[in-house]
Amino acid sequence: MLQIDQVPATPVGQYPTPFQELKRLSSHLGGARLWVKRDDMTGLAFGGSKTRALGTLLGRAVAQGADTIITCGPTTSNHVRLTAAAANQLGLNAILVLKRPQGSSVAMQGNMLLNHVLGARIVYADVDSLAGLEPVMQELAAELTAVGRRPFIIPGGGYSPVGALGYIGLVQELVQQAAAHRIDIDAVVVASGSGCIQSGLLLGSLALDAKLPVHGLTINRSVAELMPRILHDVEAAGRLIGLDRCLDPDQVVVLDDYLGPGYAVPSEAGMAAIDLLARMEGLLLDPCYTAKSMAGAMDLATRCFKPGQNVVFIHTGGTPGIFNYAGHLSSRRGAASPGPDDVQAGAEAGVAQVLRP
Ligand SMILES: Cc1ncc(COP(=O)(O)O)c(C=O)c1O
Repeated sequence: MLQIDQVPATPVGQYPTPFQELKRLSSHLGGARLWVKRDDMTGLAFGGSKTRALGTLLGRAVAQGADTIITCGPTTSNHVRLTAAAANQLGLNAILVLKRPQGSSVAMQGNMLLNHVLGARIVYADVDSLAGLEPVMQELAAELTAVGRRPFIIPGGGYSPVGALGYIGLVQELVQQAAAHRIDIDAVVVASGSGCIQSGLLLGSLALDAKLPVHGLTINRSVAELMPRILHDVEAAGRLIGLDRCLDPDQVVVLDDYLGPGYAVPSEAGMAAIDLLARMEGLLLDPCYTAKSMAGAMDLATRCFKPGQNVVFIHTGGTPGIFNYAGHLSSRRGAASPGPDDVQAGAEAGVAQVLRP
């Protein structure tokens, strides 16, 4: 008997998130039907899938009587911003340990701006890699404990067995929503960074016997680094709920074909995906995570799946990141100040020419 219902969780998000078909995009591409699971709409501070891991992680923190949440990440991290928001909602303090960007000042935009608005305490660390942030968090926690506080550390990206448990609900929703639309899911496509979301989807699929074919598309780590992390996380999380089935390593599909030039560096395919989704579906993607994974979903839907099959893209959130790329995005429109120029062009060209044919 699985002990899913006994996992402590705090309700920091609003579920289920919507599930919708991208009809215009699918017919434009001519491949499989594309669907989107709108986890950018989890209802907490601009949303994002990380809200789900925070539900179970903060559930444990509250159960342990924590008063201060410490987490870490890059300044662009969505997990960090959502942790600050969730901590506020629960009346807990939040300390964000952030890797100071090398060679550039910290842009007060996107998630960083929101971290400030949320009032979280920020500690910058001069470290070479994100892994270097973990000992900084341990030191801070020891200092807080010494003065009588009760800190709780959430690893970067929420990557942990407890975090993975938060995604069982996502699988449950997907199964129900696919049934309501009378479709079989032939592929689920998701951005994979720390591996927490992909682990959670595989765990949920195993626990609920949903047989979801999950494709993780890397946004920073290599495939070789990510595969064992995911296998380990699924097994450890499974033990927490008394799961007696093991994940077949063949079910861990990780692809690095859509990473482009590297973490947080826009790829041409990703930027094209932003344009296409915005103009065809009114759906917003960010250059760092969801643009690249959507570029992959579209490629897989046209190259590897047939019309009539169903490819589900998990919109994991990250939309505040759009504002970090104002320069890239506006230069694609070929105008330094697109608003006034567009109006002027419209006036000169006449209304008929600015309307869609
Ligand atoms: C918007 C978004 N999508 C996907 C990911 C990847 O998730 P994970 O770190 O759990 O692999 C992240 C986090 O890094 C994210 O912020």
